[in-house]
Amino acid sequence: MDQYQVLGNPIKQSKSPQIHAQFASNTAQDVEYSAQLVPESDFEQVVEDFFASGGKGLNITVPFKQRAFSLAQHPSAAANLAQAANTLWLNESGEVCADNTDGVGMVRDITVNLGAELSAKRILILGAGGAVRGVLEPLLAQKPAQVVIANRTLSKAQALAEAVASLGPVQACSFEHLQGPFDWIINGTSASLSGDLPPLPEGLLQASTQTYDMMYGAQATVFSQWAMAHGVAKASDGLGMLVEQAAESFTIWRGVRPTTAGVLSWLRQQL
Ligand code: ATR
Repeated sequence: MDQYQVLGNPIKQSKSPQIHAQFASNTAQDVEYSAQLVPESDFEQVVEDFFASGGKGLNITVPFKQRAFSLAQHPSAAANLAQAANTLWLNESGEVCADNTDGVGMVRDITVNLGAELSAKRILILGAGGAVRGVLEPLLAQKPAQVVIANRTLSKAQALAEAVASLGPVQACSFEHLQGPFDWIINGTSASLSGDLPPLPEGLLQASTQTYDMMYGAQATVFSQWAMAHGVAKASDGLGMLVEQAAESFTIWRGVRPTTAGVLSWLRQQL
């Protein structure tokens, strides 16, 4: 049976084995997918051993996504831009290929699952860390009218905006100088994890604004609560992004796209 794994540290929280087991059964693919806790010092060796023993594909999670990118001989454009990879596999010559499916996953969740448009929209994206870096390339491929990257540390937003300047209309801004309204506000800061909200000025939202938090939880995130309190049209969280990035990896590995709606509603019930 073809073997797949997710590598991370910690790994216990990973929902990937459950998600991929459902994809495999839905598409009648004979695969086995497990999780492995990898000590910080062992990552490269574990990847090498996995493929040497016939393993077919790896998902990579915190804190190894940058190292996964570094060891790949053939990174995708999205992985190159993110300088991070969450999906590894071998090509026919046995060389390591890498992709970063987070951004495509988020875009698919928004455009397919939520049935919303990103093209020609004014989009505000909060944060300039790894999570945001990982989604910019697919986001800009949707041809938004404008993407503003706002971050607490302005220099990081500026560096990121410069890095993607050739891909579309992007600019950097501090939180305090933001001028709305925006059609979309996407939260890619890790502030939600600690229950914090970036210091957002008034005037960013209008009645038709939709928001998306890359984080998710059993309750609405602090960011989603802020958005709903301001009367946005819809506030979505990142559970669909989690499922869609997994579906994208599965499709790369197996050449078959799994359906995701059932897995997403099942996962929602588990939260
Ligand atoms: P990740 O991989 O989750 O993106 P990261 O690379 O450490 O993690 O980036 C975290 C992001 O959340 C950064 O943009 C960070 O802002 P700074 O660059 O100024 O550090 C942002 N962030 C974290 N806590 C925040 C808070 N309480 N308010 C606003 N932004 C916050």
